Amino acid sequence: MNRKQLVSMAGGGVVALALAVPFLWSVPSADATIVTVYKTPTCGCCKLWVDHLLANGFDVDVKDLPDLRAIKAQNGVSPGLASCHTALVDGYVFEGHVPADLVAEVLRDRPDILGLSVPGMVVGSPGMEMPGQPAQPYEVLAFDAQGRVSVYASR
Ligand code: CU
Ligand code: CU
Repeated sequence: MNRKQLVSMAGGGVVALALAVPFLWSVPSADATIVTVYKTPTCGCCKLWVDHLLANGFDVDVKDLPDLRAIKAQNGVSPGLASCHTALVDGYVFEGHVPADLVAEVLRDRPDILGLSVPGMVVGSPGMEMPGQPAQPYEVLAFDAQGRVSVYASR
């Protein structure tokens, strides 16, 4: 192989890479899904739940609002389902301290629901860990557009 052949091979490699890179960038990826979290500016446990999502590989966009009632009402979160923050991602709603593995499961399995909720503020749920206080068992509820609520998981 002479020098000219080597140079042309290298040139071919660059062309192949240049063709492949835009293709790779355009491939949709679950990892690129951004979770938009609506919370109030002073909520500490909301911040800790965001940290829980980040630690589990999610990208998060935090939106601070003084009042979340309109966001909840627009997304099917009735007062009985409500917690401190409301997260929207890929067509689903996650209300309160929902464990990240269940967020990932819903985004993967795409059940016919609006979303999941952990109503209230359960001690021991992700972002609600309290030093010296035992974790409380809780249910993660699924809710749909017709107002039906069912138990999705028990933790
Ligand atoms: Cu909270
Ligand atoms: Cu919160």
